[in-house]
Amino acid sequence: MAVSVIILAAGQGTRMHSTLPKVLHQLAGRPLLSHVIATARQLNPAQIIVVYGHGGETVPEAFRAADITWVRQELQLGTGHAALQTLPYIKPDTMLLILSGDVPLVKIETLKRLLAMVDQGGVGLLTVELANPNGYGRIIRDRVGGVSKIIEEADASPEQRRIREVNTGITAIEARYLKQIAPKLSNNNAQGEYYLTDIIEHAVASGEKVVAVSAADSIEVMGVNDRQQLAYLERFYQKREAARLMGEGVSLSDPDRFDLRGELLVGKDVYIDINVILEGRVILGDGVKIGPHCYLRNAVLGEGVKVLANCVIEEATIDACARVGPFTRIRPETRLGEGVHIGNFVEIKKSTINKNSKVNHLSYIGDATIGKKVNIGAGTITCNYDGANKHHTLIEDNVFIGSDTQLIAPVKIGAGATIGAGATITHDVPPGELTLSRTPQKSWPGWKRPSKK
Ligand code: UD1
Ligand code: CA
Repeated sequence: MAVSVIILAAGQGTRMHSTLPKVLHQLAGRPLLSHVIATARQLNPAQIIVVYGHGGETVPEAFRAADITWVRQELQLGTGHAALQTLPYIKPDTMLLILSGDVPLVKIETLKRLLAMVDQGGVGLLTVELANPNGYGRIIRDRVGGVSKIIEEADASPEQRRIREVNTGITAIEARYLKQIAPKLSNNNAQGEYYLTDIIEHAVASGEKVVAVSAADSIEVMGVNDRQQLAYLERFYQKREAARLMGEGVSLSDPDRFDLRGELLVGKDVYIDINVILEGRVILGDGVKIGPHCYLRNAVLGEGVKVLANCVIEEATIDACARVGPFTRIRPETRLGEGVHIGNFVEIKKSTINKNSKVNHLSYIGDATIGKKVNIGAGTITCNYDGANKHHTLIEDNVFIGSDTQLIAPVKIGAGATIGAGATITHDVPPGELTLSRTPQKSWPGWKRPSKK
């Protein structure tokens, strides 16, 4: 039977105490709901329906995905009521897999195991045994061990509350049966909500096949109800990713102090020191070394690149054997060629710096193209902004720029030129020559400092 996925994501998330809808809170740098959608997609479903409500259109707007049917639940009257809203949209003859938008780490294998159990139709439940079942719906089984119903905690007797097998909220149900049963659910219970979980008791009574599958580990089905649980799942996710990367041959000096908020592709013998945060899509070539306390977002680092401590690198490409840092900021649209050295307190923005050039100390290079084997002295500034527009600086191969030089863009420095320290360059500089812009140094023999009368 073809599978359709319904994701329930309309709830408020009261315990987050947030203006942001719960499913938009981030885990590993992206919304909780995006993790659930990504898992759903792996099942190649006939359709993905997301029920949203609290937070209004901010939820669908955060995704803009063409393959999702968004169904608004105006008032959040319970999970059964949320499922009811999907009826006009669901394809007949499919098996519906109902997921929660706030359970981000469920494994695809577990979902496949659940779906396999309902291959012939009926209703399937994913349950889990918890040492502390507080807050969850409890699974009530009959004398021969079959599931007979789910009882929500608010409605459970003290004896039922002792049951440790709980409902994960993940359910598989035939579209045919949901259509039949959802309109019949009532809200006659302690919370006055329409419970999706009541379906089980109805199904058993009307002779539908009901099966339960147990999740292998409780963390994968853990929901996010408050910020502590969110932080807990974040750490769990990070440890899992760290373990996976180490398994692929990456050295992490401390897997507990590593954060991946996106996708990391690595070559061989990559070394990552503590407190490194990687965001977006990061590619690290063979032998790349990242020092402690670095932040990289959407960056491609070639073979043997070394990033020393405390660097920020965003949307940049750094070619083989370049060295960056410590304390360097590389801003978007930067390309550093092979063997380039960028040192401390240097900011590079939207610039290309070619092979073997060096900017080692205290400089700002923005909107510039720098050739090969150029040496930029300490304290050099490309003055790229006139208060209204940005202008380009071109520095050709083999240029030497003395310390504390300002290059007033637009300006071009010809190949092999030398600029003496302390220059303010306002016109193009010819190739191969020495250019100075200084008032000549003077001394006044016999001059005395004034003294107080
Ligand atoms: C639900 C289950 C409970 C299970 C637990 C697992 C019911 C009645 N109870 O309880 O058996 O142990 O999940 O975490 O289903 N939602 C909507 N619209 C609504 C209400 C909820 O879309 O009107 C969404 C929420 O956004 C959330 C999911 O449904 O993603 C679960 O709702 P929640 O209120 O968290 O249910 P629980 O009380 O945790
Ligand atoms: Ca919940």
